[in-house]
Amino acid sequence: MNGAALRSGEPCNHLIQLDPTMNQPTVAQKAPYPVAVEAGKTYFWCACGQSKSQPLCDGSHKGSGFNPTPFKAEKTATVYFCGCKHSANGALCDGSHKRL
Ligand code: FES
Repeated sequence: MNGAALRSGEPCNHLIQLDPTMNQPTVAQKAPYPVAVEAGKTYFWCACGQSKSQPLCDGSHKGSGFNPTPFKAEKTATVYFCGCKHSANGALCDGSHKRL
């Protein structure tokens, strides 16, 4: 641990340093992408936002520090993949795009 430990009630004056090399994903669009998926098939959701095949990976993430997120469809249905790349629900939209 770096620095002295705080005593109870003592204010902390340390700043949290964010890693300047950490990238934020690119917002592909501020809305989900509806995609018809097939049961048992795995899809690779673009997490970096650079893919030209949104919402799925086309390999554009290479060197960005991002990797695609696999999504295995449990049933054949339409799912809503996140387009803003800020969902806390992984590949699927959780409504976070409304706060961007
Ligand atoms: S499109 Fe990203 S949370 Fe809805």
